[in-house]
Amino acid sequence: MSACPPDSTSRSVTGIVLEDDLSLARAQSLSADLDLPLLSRDTAAAATSPRDMLLAVMSDGLELRSDMGTLRIDYLLGPQAQRLARSTGFKEPLSRALGLQARTPQSVLDATAGLCRDAFLLSSLGVEVCAVERNPVVGALVSDAIQRATQFQAPDHPLTHLKIQIGEARTVLEQLAADERPDAIYLDPMFPPRRKSSLVKKEMRILAELTGGATSESELAELLSTALQAANKRVVLKRPTEAPATTAVRPPDHTIQGGRTTRYDVWLT
Ligand SMILES: C[S@@+](CC[C@H](N)C(=O)[O-])C[C@H]1O[C@@H](n2cnc3c(N)ncnc32)[C@H](O)[C@@H]1O
Repeated sequence: MSACPPDSTSRSVTGIVLEDDLSLARAQSLSADLDLPLLSRDTAAAATSPRDMLLAVMSDGLELRSDMGTLRIDYLLGPQAQRLARSTGFKEPLSRALGLQARTPQSVLDATAGLCRDAFLLSSLGVEVCAVERNPVVGALVSDAIQRATQFQAPDHPLTHLKIQIGEARTVLEQLAADERPDAIYLDPMFPPRRKSSLVKKEMRILAELTGGATSESELAELLSTALQAANKRVVLKRPTEAPATTAVRPPDHTIQGGRTTRYDVWLT
């Protein structure tokens, strides 16, 4: 799920495309926040090359467009809704790895939030989730999807417990006050290239292009070390099944098998 494609090179988003006049104020605000030029549909077609990525603003939400396809996040429709419906909740491998239990208030900081699909599932269980993502365009797509998914829910609905923060995870973790420390920290960095690249889903290929691909082992070791100091109870790292355990800090305390190709390494703090 988190594998990035081989030969991935980072691409940047070159503009905001305004799709309809109703969205002008929102497009202007995103243009200022993301420091990207605001383009009309006509100027976008003329001014951009096929490799450019564009963030389109429509009255029904945001989408990222590129020659690799379109990335739009919908938590309550399509595959993510099916995942939510099929979820076994607290029995899910990720829930068990994070030590979550029903009727026990718990907090999780998802330090590499990406498209927040895992974070969204966790928040649906009523877990207090803070999702940290360093790429601001990914953050904008996620914030938009959360807003669409929760706009008609009651203010105390579990899905309203998901908060997104844009920033570098290590900095965010280092700046947590003692009473802000989460029970568990979840790390799901981009995996190194997999041989069967066709198995990598389109949205993960686009995300990898946008965010620069796989996290290096040295960066991962630093992130893990920081997370171990910030978590009250445990740190969980998602890894490809065949990857060796990260022992740069210390070996994991235990491991839980995830899906067919992934596992969760767990460190108790
Ligand atoms: C594999 S994706 C995570 C997928 C996520 N678990 C989901 O359910 O959608 C990894 C994400 O982590 C982000 N990331 C990697 N290192 C980070 C760091 N040090 N701080 C913040 N975000 C980071 C990347 O930008 C990317 O969006």
